Amino acid sequence: VTRSLVLSDLHSNLEALLAVLDDARGLAYDRVLILGDVVGYGADPGGVIEILRGLPGVVAVRGNHDRVAAGLEEGKEFNVAARSAVQWTRRALDGPGREYLRTLPQGPREFAAGRLLCHGTPLDEDEYLLEETVARRSFEAIPFDLCFFGHTHFPCHVSAEGTRVRLRAAEGDRAEFALSPGARHMINPGSVGQPRDRNPKSSYAVYDDADATVTIHRVAYPVEVVRRKILDAGLPRWLGDRLLLGV
Ligand SMILES: [Fe+2]
Repeated sequence: VTRSLVLSDLHSNLEALLAVLDDARGLAYDRVLILGDVVGYGADPGGVIEILRGLPGVVAVRGNHDRVAAGLEEGKEFNVAARSAVQWTRRALDGPGREYLRTLPQGPREFAAGRLLCHGTPLDEDEYLLEETVARRSFEAIPFDLCFFGHTHFPCHVSAEGTRVRLRAAEGDRAEFALSPGARHMINPGSVGQPRDRNPKSSYAVYDDADATVTIHRVAYPVEVVRRKILDAGLPRWLGDRLLLGV
């Protein structure tokens, strides 16, 4: 394997997923890493699951929304909009869709020697990694060279070299990070379905293990169509509006 597509926080946004796959066409990737939150918030849980099932070389972990939508947990810590969306999602899913979510494994998961994927952090699938101090705990507790994570919807690269931990946000519509061999790395590809860094374009990553690079790509998708579907489904209005702003 030399090239992987890295997708996180798809959140039932079918149009965003299709735009990403279209953008990545021709990259000759042979593995797709999915970092969880396949569903929740958006109006197309079944459509997104169906597309994921057809992709080659998928290695996936679940996210907190998948866990609650699958009925494994009640989601008491969710805010009002998230809870209302997860209840809507449970009703919208068919048997195979629910089964797909129920059988998504909990991270961390090793997809190659020393390389992990997880939803929040390798220590806790629900932990938000937005600061170096949080990353440091994972670097210290878990042995890995490279770890892809999601959950925050915030694309970034964290490197650890000796005792120095440094977090860099992915800027602009294309950001390339070199995986320097002397360091260890954690990378968040951003969110396919609900970007929150004030760039409303869908976010994903391409991991090239021959070049030792990870590139974050941003792709426009028909946000207004997706927003309309969310409103028509009776989901909370804010879940549609926030997509326009990327927050
Ligand atoms: Fe998420």
